Amino acid sequence: MLRAVTVDVRPTRPEEFRAVHETIAAALMFPPPTDAEWPTREEGWRSSDTISAWEGGRCVGHAGAFRFDTLVPGGARLDTAGVTRIGVLPSHTRRGLLTEMMRELLAAARGRGASLASLRASEAVIYRRFGFGVAAEAAGVVVRPREAGPVAGAAPGRVRLLRADEVMDVVPPLYDRIRRRVGTLSRPEFLWRGVLRDAVEQQKAAFVAVHEGRAGDPDGYVAYDLAWRPAAHPIRERGGGNVYDLIGADDAVELALWRHLLEIDLVHEWSVRERPVDDPVRFAVANARAYEATPWDEQWVRLLDVERALGSRTYAPAHGRVVVEVHDPVFPANDGAFAVEAAGAARVEDEPDLVATIDGLSAAYLGGTSWRELAAAGRVEARRSGAIEVADVLFAQRPAPFSGTFF
Ligand SMILES: CC(C)(COP(=O)(O)OP(=O)(O)OC[C@H]1O[C@@H](n2cnc3c(N)ncnc32)[C@H](O)[C@@H]1OP(=O)(O)O)[C@@H](O)C(=O)NCCC(=O)NCCS
Repeated sequence: MLRAVTVDVRPTRPEEFRAVHETIAAALMFPPPTDAEWPTREEGWRSSDTISAWEGGRCVGHAGAFRFDTLVPGGARLDTAGVTRIGVLPSHTRRGLLTEMMRELLAAARGRGASLASLRASEAVIYRRFGFGVAAEAAGVVVRPREAGPVAGAAPGRVRLLRADEVMDVVPPLYDRIRRRVGTLSRPEFLWRGVLRDAVEQQKAAFVAVHEGRAGDPDGYVAYDLAWRPAAHPIRERGGGNVYDLIGADDAVELALWRHLLEIDLVHEWSVRERPVDDPVRFAVANARAYEATPWDEQWVRLLDVERALGSRTYAPAHGRVVVEVHDPVFPANDGAFAVEAAGAARVEDEPDLVATIDGLSAAYLGGTSWRELAAAGRVEARRSGAIEVADVLFAQRPAPFSGTFF
């Protein structure tokens, strides 16, 4: 791989954050931040790990990571590098810069004790070579309330619209208390400011509604905005809404929040970027076709410490166990065989039943991608008949894994 010798890859210094941000913006086709925007953007830089590439005093590439945790099957929360702000200037692509920055970034994250790395990809062809696999899908959703009909199964209680000045105090702690889906991430404060900005600043018709159960305590919330959607003639304009977050302590609370949305006057269509693929509302409305879902590869995960990651999640009851052998070209310490059974997982010296690449094992880890699919795609080799079926029972996860956090 040919690369200019003058490019220096190293940790970014705080005084360089804005220059690096401008490079990322250029690579991702966004305008550079204005002076007014920069202080808010800078917050996210101060709480992340960052590696940048420099040539002659100019930043030509960057790779960074936020520090999150990921909820894994059984309830453990694993230290996670949230890989972000990946970009190389178009003048410097395909010279191995991302490869070098990614190796440094992942090694640093592993070195500080992160078991997982997680990212949201601009293109699905970039990250498999670095050991990432699609561990959980989400659905982009359009819902048409007038066609949907009533929502069955909603929790009793009431829905209350928060005042703008309550939003930041109520929502983040509520999320921490009620998040239950495998694959959800902890959210640092700067990320919350982004998610809730519209509801706090009121530049748009943006709202947060909380659901309160019989005892009056909040047990779920939905953040959304509303606007008139353009039409050929103004009289034909109709209301539409975007949902950012809809999370309840249980399914019935989520249905109550959906009922709130679907009963809002003037709104003919709701759009949501990320919903779980098994969103209960689809079958709780009278007409399932009023809920149109398009699945996409939401959560790319890479195991950084295979032994710790496998040992930290629980497994479903199954008849038998499987021995999975993995080979990791970046972190040889991950190489080896791991026995997985209902009681847990541990490193062993046994002959393998399944041989997986690191991206294959990472895809299967949360239980969102089946071993069967991976084997059919040639990403996992079965050395014993029946091993795929046992592995799928052990790793299975319902409700489906889902993150709901875009970064
Ligand atoms: C994605 C990006 C950062 C890759 O940087 P890069 O320095 O060109 O990557 P590398 O040179 O290290 O590439 C390593 C390998 O991945 C391949 N690759 C990298 N990006 C690719 C892409 N977007 N499409 C197809 N292949 C890609 C390279 O061809 C190379 O393959 P090889 O090892 O067989 O030669 C860069 O293309 C970019 O900035 N793209 C626009 C912004 C973007 O999409 N960022 C990701 C946000 S999630």
